[in-house]
Amino acid sequence: MDQNLVKREQWSSKLGFIFAAVGSAVGLGNLWGFAYRSSQGGGAAFVILYILVVLIICIPVFVAEFSLGRNTSTSAFLAPIKAAGQNWAPLGWLFLVAPLAIASYYSVIMGWTIDMFFHILFNKLPANKEEADQLFNLLSGGNRDMIGQILSLFLGGLIISAGIKKGIEKINKICMPLLFFLLFSLVVWAAFLNNALEGYYNFILNFDLSQLFDPDNIKNAFSQAFFSLSLGIGIMVTYSSYLNKKSDLPKQSFQIASLDTLVGLMAGLITFPIMFTFGFGSSFDGDPIGALFKYIPTGLGDYGLAGRIVAILFFGLIYIAAITSLISLLEIPVSTLKDKFNFDRKKATFFTIIFTFLIGIPSAINAGFIGKIDAIANILLILGGFLVSFLLAWVVPKTLDDELINSGSSLITRNYLKFMLKYITPILISAGLLVTIKQTLIQWVGN
Ligand code: TRP
Repeated sequence: MDQNLVKREQWSSKLGFIFAAVGSAVGLGNLWGFAYRSSQGGGAAFVILYILVVLIICIPVFVAEFSLGRNTSTSAFLAPIKAAGQNWAPLGWLFLVAPLAIASYYSVIMGWTIDMFFHILFNKLPANKEEADQLFNLLSGGNRDMIGQILSLFLGGLIISAGIKKGIEKINKICMPLLFFLLFSLVVWAAFLNNALEGYYNFILNFDLSQLFDPDNIKNAFSQAFFSLSLGIGIMVTYSSYLNKKSDLPKQSFQIASLDTLVGLMAGLITFPIMFTFGFGSSFDGDPIGALFKYIPTGLGDYGLAGRIVAILFFGLIYIAAITSLISLLEIPVSTLKDKFNFDRKKATFFTIIFTFLIGIPSAINAGFIGKIDAIANILLILGGFLVSFLLAWVVPKTLDDELINSGSSLITRNYLKFMLKYITPILISAGLLVTIKQTLIQWVGN
């Protein structure tokens, strides 16, 4: 592979890489999925399971993905082959197909978000649930949402085609601080709502021990953790392929996972007070996707101009979070086309967004389709997480070791991560994978 003849672009600094990885991680999954899943699974029990999955499973997987990416310095599609030979080509395919599948519906939801943003910028918020239903049907039905979908893909393509430093890194350096600022302001605002305390109680304090063992809850925690951290399908492989040899991978994994979890928690501290103050009760009753687009604007409608401003900020925030995630998804096929077929970045981006648009059409036409691919994508993420850990710990342990030594990790950290990746992580992920597949099938048959 002659891509090594041309010097591979790199992040300009450690911080640039962290911003980009956090930008990928923080997205719709945190702002919507975290609160939604916790509302299904008895609050605190979900949050505890989620944090356990992140600490025990995801951080080692992060290190595995980062080691693979940095060591091979190639796109996620080629990295498994370069590390372990042709037998591992299927993992490369998984790394290519899964991000495309996610990007296909992610861009559709972003289309609704931007549409909602402009709608409330110029119009009043819906006054009641009926009006909210109508509005959501308008945004998500038929051809109209394809405009937002195309716009989002085009915007993502524009950023990506500018390259790693000038495109991806730059946009994240602007968006991430802005996002934290907006998020923090909204958390403070929500704390003053009438039923904020009741919201907090249901989110993090309401603890039911039996929920810790509930299979749906376990599935939710696994899916949420892998999705929210952008783990398991090569994003982190790709981003770390632009990393210099010295940065401390375990430390950065921990930092990225912590920031991402913090955002999920903060989003809960906004949505739960809103839900309880405006009487939507403790659950998004079975309408996960619409929830964000119906309840929040309707609730805020009671607050006049202030409510409208908050709603505008909220949807702006979601869009900013989502665009930095979308570009990470698109970067996988783009870097694959570059590395494998020597396309230049612009041409690779062009093909990627056209293809993503086409495979996103079913999601744009039928919102019900989104839930289905999302469920499949979540299974692929967990499967990918398993395979990456297995690859690094059992097939190419030297690569893992080298990267940990390059990172300057202490002996304890190195041994801990190697032990986890060899013996603990694969077993726990397999268990999580089986539960997730089983519960997904039960849900499908049940419907
Ligand atoms: N993590 C992002 C979110 O929470 C979505 C995302 C971006 C993603 N890249 C990913 C999910 C890779 C899984 C894998 O919204």
